[in-house]
Parts: sequence; C-alpha cells; structure tokens
Amino acid sequence: MSPPDANPEFPPRTASYEADPAEVSRVLLLYSGGLDTSVMLKWIQDVYDAEVVCLTVNLGQPGEDYEVIREKALRLGALDCHVVDAREEFAREYLARAIRANALYGGGYPLFTALGRPLIAKLAVEHARASGCDTIAHGCTGKGNDQVRIEATVSTLAPELRVIAPVRSWQMGREEEIAYARTHGIPIKASHGAEAGPPYSIDDNLWGRSSEGRWIEDLSHAPDEDVFQLVTPPERAPDEPETIEIEFERGIPVALDGRRLELVELLEAVAELGARHGVGIVDHIEDRIVGLKVRDIYEVPAAAILLPAHQELEHLVCTIHQNQFKPQLDRQWAYLVYAGLWWEPLRTDLDAYMDAVNAHVTGTIAVKLYKGHARVVTRSSPHAVYDSELASFSQSGGLFSQTASPGFIELFSLQSRMAWRLRQGS
Ligand code: ARG
Repeated sequence: MSPPDANPEFPPRTASYEADPAEVSRVLLLYSGGLDTSVMLKWIQDVYDAEVVCLTVNLGQPGEDYEVIREKALRLGALDCHVVDAREEFAREYLARAIRANALYGGGYPLFTALGRPLIAKLAVEHARASGCDTIAHGCTGKGNDQVRIEATVSTLAPELRVIAPVRSWQMGREEEIAYARTHGIPIKASHGAEAGPPYSIDDNLWGRSSEGRWIEDLSHAPDEDVFQLVTPPERAPDEPETIEIEFERGIPVALDGRRLELVELLEAVAELGARHGVGIVDHIEDRIVGLKVRDIYEVPAAAILLPAHQELEHLVCTIHQNQFKPQLDRQWAYLVYAGLWWEPLRTDLDAYMDAVNAHVTGTIAVKLYKGHARVVTRSSPHAVYDSELASFSQSGGLFSQTASPGFIELFSLQSRMAWRLRQGS
C-alpha cells in the first residue's frame, strides 16, 4: 500500500542513481522522435519543471530524417537537440568485436540492440556533461533489457548523473499517451493514431531490426508478411542464386567481391545483398535478463552472412583445441553484452582473447545466397591449418604416418575401454 500522499508520477526510488524530483533541473533526453519520447519531452518540462536537451543517435537505422526529428524536438520546447552520427564508432568498437566473438545470444540473436545501447548511453553521458545536465532520461519500459543496458552504463560511467525512466512510472497507456499528445500539440503520425491500433515495437540499426508486440506475442501465430520491412520473404526472393566473396583481415571483413570498403559501407552492402535473397529472418524465443520470456522477429541479413563466414574462417585457421574452447568464451561474451554489462572487465578480458585468436583470421570466404539461405561454398587463408596433400585419402607420408594410427587409437581409447569393461562387469 502506498502512503496516501504518494505521487504516482514519482514512485519511491529504489536505486541510488534514480533522480530525486526536487533536484532535477536540466535533463538530457534520449530522443527518437517517436510517440513515447515526444510525449516525454513535454511531460518532463511540465512535471519536473525542468529544461530538456535532446540527443538523437544515428546507428544506421534506415529511413530516418534527422532534420525533421531535430525540428520536432525544438518545437516541443527542447533547449537543443544534438544529432550524432555514431555509425563509424558503432561499427569499429562494437560490431567488429561482435564479429570476432561470433556473437549470438540464445542461438539466434546477433545483439544489434544490445550492442547499440551502451554506445547510446555513453554518448548520453558525454552530452549531458557537456550541456550541464544533471539527469538522463530514456524511453525504455520496466519490462525490457534496454533499461538495464542504459542504466548500467550511465551509473558506471557517470556516478554523478541521475536517471529518470518516465515510461516506468507515468502510468499512461497508449491511449492516454495519444490523448496527452493531442492536448499538448504533439504531432502524431497517422499510422500511430488510436484508430490504427498499436504498431509493432521496432528497434533497428546497421546490424539488424527487431519487431515485438501485436500477434508476435501469440506463439501459435506464424509471421504475417507485413512484419518484414527489411528482408524479402524467401518465397519471393530471386530464382537465381548469387555468390559473394568476403575478405577478412584479423577477423574483420574488409572487402566485398574484391572491393575494399570501410566497415559501415561493407555492412550496408552485405545487408542489402542478404535482404534481397531473403537471408536473415529469425523467429526467436528469448530469455530476457529481467526474467521474462518473449518472442522477437529479427531481420538480420548482414549478421546472417558475416557471422557464419567469420566462424568458418576461424575454424580453418585455428587448431582443434582452439576450436573446442572459443565457443564457450563466445557464449559468455554474448551473454555479458546481452545482459548490459558492456563495461564489465570480463568483457575486455574476453576481447583480449578474441583479438589473440583473430590475429590469424585473415582470408576469403565465398557465400552462396539463395532463397533465405546463406551457405559457405569456398574458403582460403594463408594461415589455414590445412594441407590438401595430407588430407587426401590417396597420399601417405610427410607429416602423417598411417602406420602410427593404430598405436594412437590404442592409447587414445585406453580409459574408455577400461571403463566400459568395468561397467559390463558390475
Ligand atoms: N530482444 C532484443 C534485446 O533485448 C531486442 C529489443 C528491442 N528493443 C526495443 N526497444 N524494441 O536486445
């Protein structure tokens, strides 16, 4: 039971980094231009009697007009709206590491949102400090992973800053938000009107796109085609396959079909090819860090090509022992990043290992794209631990002696044979 004078808009604070409403005077708002953060921009000015500076981060999400977003923020009373193009930093510092770590969470999610949040929150800290803000506000709900990623980052990098998460506390549903927007002169897209019904909840960047909500929450509902805005449904992909060649240096893709490209351009070009051929649709049941199990529909054309290509090259240049070991670290890396612990020292420790292994991951992989499939068809590397002469059945000699094999088998199977015998006897 809350005390009778409790203000529902300011529920009791649980964490030390949550803002005391009396001390909020200038807020850095992570602003997307959508309904939630537009309502928030007005609401913070009204309810906290505070100034708001907006920050919008470009991580390569398609179809955004940043000038329109900026003007909307200013019209809604923001002191300023900074638009930062962080694509290059995102690719170099976050996605390149994810590729080296073959990063997939839960067997299918390449972590594009989870990789983007620590960068967005780091930029929020930098801009909050530079513009004299005492508090950072974000539009995450209390049910998702993104609040964990953003608040863990802010409280790690900037213990002096405070956080507010209005969607967790303001007790407005969609209808109330739309009503609030109408009464406060906040423009609403036609597709966002109450009549249109709730839209999918979308998040996207260079590395992929996710959809949640609506029928996706009904596990017995197979995907409706309107959810796919990036990848062509495989049934409608071209009838002709296309083979592309990706060159890696030290675990990072550097060229596509013989053409050297900056990482951002390369990721965009691979995504476009994959999307055309229906590659990278993932219908995923996921264990969120806050306990919920949810379903996401992902469209990840670049990741669905580059991660298997990278992994294939890694397999080729690594020994059996490295190949047995690294996936365990890959899984740990993906879990840490999913869980919002980007700044945890174990992540940098793991990256040191990823870098050491990837020092030799140089070479070329060709991938054939066809109606939703991306299959590695050729590989080559100057560091391949592979000798076609040794591997060939017809050859003997050199480093490999076939007459040594029986001795190896006898010793290698010794303990297993002994154990088998003991268990038969019991
Ligand atoms: N399930 C994914 C994750 O936790 C995607 C989340 C998408 N975020 C969003 N705000 N719609 O990383």
